[in-house]
Amino acid sequence: MTGKVATVVGARPQFVKAAAVSRAFREAGVDEVLIHTGQHYDANMSDIFFEELEIPAPKLHLGVGGGLHGAMTGAMLAKLEEAFIAEKPAVVLVYGDTNSTLAGALAAAKLHVPIVHSESGLRSFNRRMPEEINRVVTDHLSTLLLCPTQAAIENLKREGITKGVHHIGDVMFDATLFAIERAKRSSTVIDALGLKGKRFAVCTLHRAENTDDPARLNALLDFLEGHARDRIIVFPVHPRTRKVLAASGRKLDRLMLTDPLGYFDLHRLLADCDLVLTDSGGLQKEAYFHRKPCITLREETEWVETIEAGWNKLWTAADYVTPRRDITDYGAGEAAAKTAAVIRPLL
Ligand code: UD1
Repeated sequence: MTGKVATVVGARPQFVKAAAVSRAFREAGVDEVLIHTGQHYDANMSDIFFEELEIPAPKLHLGVGGGLHGAMTGAMLAKLEEAFIAEKPAVVLVYGDTNSTLAGALAAAKLHVPIVHSESGLRSFNRRMPEEINRVVTDHLSTLLLCPTQAAIENLKREGITKGVHHIGDVMFDATLFAIERAKRSSTVIDALGLKGKRFAVCTLHRAENTDDPARLNALLDFLEGHARDRIIVFPVHPRTRKVLAASGRKLDRLMLTDPLGYFDLHRLLADCDLVLTDSGGLQKEAYFHRKPCITLREETEWVETIEAGWNKLWTAADYVTPRRDITDYGAGEAAAKTAAVIRPLL
């Protein structure tokens, strides 16, 4: 084993996944160079995750944040190409479905560097989502396709991809296991928000298809305010959503708006809440990891097993599937170690 892995991260969910896998790399003696594209740059969207999850500081920070999709992805592509030429990785590892994922995959493919896609095979079947384009293209360029679920493997099969496909489980579950005890010990968020002994839900909303259509956003906010009748709704607001809300002038007095939260505070809230309302893929599963019911603020979800197992429902659905059952697909906290094990032979 002489080669190294270049890992591309840029957005909040990728820091969480990289935390689990980087730890497994260190344990397995795998040499890793971490590259941060800069897509998420605010301290509470980026730095706090590196600190809390003990992720080593990235060797390179490309400083590409903001802008339209084409400009952002293009700028990342140019800088990642330079970085890969300088670092000469044996493989490039990308996570999930963001513009950073796509740029990392394209830059690596053009340099003939094998790509490992973690969280491969997820599909919403909605090509209006930038994330769907990013994941389809990335999967078709990848050498190793690391799937969190059986449904993801089936999706790839339908697109003719069967080589290099592995069922790994969900590295986000590994990250949650790391956080749960620490969150209990160190987070003061329950007291800080005055939630002790209160019934509350956790809500997040940031997907472009929800925030960028005023009629749709208003309908979702009405829905959330409806839920605020019988419980407090804690709503950490993503920067994209904050901008849109500020421009719309809509008052949200019935919701408890906060800044984006760190990982430990979020998990502390998940441990004590009685409901999650979200359009985030990660949070749908994190709700399940805490065995909390979820309402997904979208028309479809990539995490179909959360619906089938009765823990999640779309906001347009009448009720949850019954009876509720456990989901085995995500594994038992060994997804990161499995990721390191399947990458090793390529180094
Ligand atoms: C991105 C991902 C999405 C993921 C989400 C997690 C894409 C296409 N989308 O969406 O899949 O679920 O991250 O959070 O890659 N901004 C700030 N501060 C920051 C980060 C962003 O102000 O720290 C601003 C940006 O300048 C931009 C907006 O928020 O105006 C949206 O950021 P962007 O990175 O384009 O996409 P996200 O909505 O975060």
